[in-house]
Amino acid sequence: MPTIDVLDLPQLYTKPSAQSLLDTLALFTSAPRSWDAKRTDIHDGNEGALLGSGPVHVNPEGVARYLTSIVSSSLQWIADDDAREEIWNQASLRLSERSGRTAMGAMSRTFRIPTSDGSFELSIHEPALTGDDLGLKTWAASYLLAKRLQSFDIAHHGNEKPRVLELGSGTGLVGLAMAALGAHVVLTDLPSIAQNLARNAQDNSEVIWRNGGSTRTGILDWNNPTSCQLIREGATNVEEADEALATRFPLILAADSLYSSEHPRMLVGAVKEWLSEDSDARVIVEFPYREAYLPEIKDFRERMAQAGFCILNEGEEKGYDDWGRSGGDEEENEDALVTCWWACWGRPA
Ligand SMILES: C[S@@+](CC[C@H](N)C(=O)[O-])C[C@H]1O[C@@H](n2cnc3c(N)ncnc32)[C@H](O)[C@@H]1O
Repeated sequence: MPTIDVLDLPQLYTKPSAQSLLDTLALFTSAPRSWDAKRTDIHDGNEGALLGSGPVHVNPEGVARYLTSIVSSSLQWIADDDAREEIWNQASLRLSERSGRTAMGAMSRTFRIPTSDGSFELSIHEPALTGDDLGLKTWAASYLLAKRLQSFDIAHHGNEKPRVLELGSGTGLVGLAMAALGAHVVLTDLPSIAQNLARNAQDNSEVIWRNGGSTRTGILDWNNPTSCQLIREGATNVEEADEALATRFPLILAADSLYSSEHPRMLVGAVKEWLSEDSDARVIVEFPYREAYLPEIKDFRERMAQAGFCILNEGEEKGYDDWGRSGGDEEENEDALVTCWWACWGRPA
C-alpha cells in the first residue's frame, strides 16, 4: 500500500475544490479494526457518507495539524454552504476518531454475523460515550461471541425455538445475533443502558422477525437478580414497564461482564436464579483477558464449578476493543487487541 505524506495533500493556500478536500478526508478514515476488516460499515448520520478504509496509507505525522487547519479555515473560496459544512464535519470526525472511541459522538455500525449457510447484518447504535457507561459501547468479546453463536448448534433445538436470556447486554450485539439466528431472547441490563438496548432491538426487528426470532428488553440488575422487569413491547422508554419476567431459561449468554471483584459473585448469582433445571441447560460466556481482571475470571470459574457447572467446551480468540488512536496503524492498535476466553458451561451428565 503506497504511503503519502501530509505535504502531498491539497494545501489550503491553493484553494482546493470541495470534492478534492472530501476525497482527501476519506483517506484518513480509521475503520475500527475490532469490527471485521472485510465488511463492517460506520454510518456517521450523513446520508450516503459510508466511510471505508482508504486505499493508501497516510503518514500520521502532521495529520492532526492538517485536519485542525481545515476545521478552523473559513473555506471562503467554496461557494456551496452545504459542501463547506460537510468538509468541516468530516474533518472534525477524522480528528475525533484519532482520539479513540471515547472522544467520538453517537454512531451506528453494521456488524456482519455468520450463519451456517450465509450471514446477516445487525445495525448497532452507540450513543456518545459518557463517563462510566461501558454498556453504551460494543466490546470485542461481544462481537467475537456473536460470530461464534452459530457454532454452538443451539439455535434450533428440536422444533422449539430456544428461549435465551442475555445478562449485561450493553448495546445488545450478542442477544440480537442470537435472536436473528431464530431464538426468543430477553436482553437485559441496567436502566441507564436499557434505553439504547431497546432502541437497538427495535432497529433490528425486521431481520430478527424474518429469521423467526424475537426479543424483549428488560432491566435485570445482578445486585438484585431475583427480579427482571420487562419494558413494554415496542417501547424504547424504560419507564414504560411491563410485567416482570417469571420463567427460567435453558440458555444464558454474557459477554465482557467481569470487571469488578463483585461481578463473579453477582453474575453467578444471576445465572443460578435464571438458568432452568433442564439437564441440557447451558451458559455461554466470553470475557477478555484484561490484566487487571484475571482474578475475576478465576473467581467466576471457581464459583461456577461450586454451583455445579462444568465446562463443556472452551477456547481463546483475539479481537479489538477500540479504534486505533492515531489512525489505524497495526502497531498503534496493539493496545486495543485483546485475547478473549469463551466457554460453554453445562451440568455434568
Ligand atoms: C463491558 S460492558 C459489556 C456490554 C456488552 N455485553 C458487550 O460486550 O459489548 C458490561 C455490561 O455489564 C452491565 N452491568 C454492569 N453491572 C451490572 C449489574 N449490576 N447488573 C446488570 N448489568 C450490569 C453494564 O451496564 C454493561 O452493559
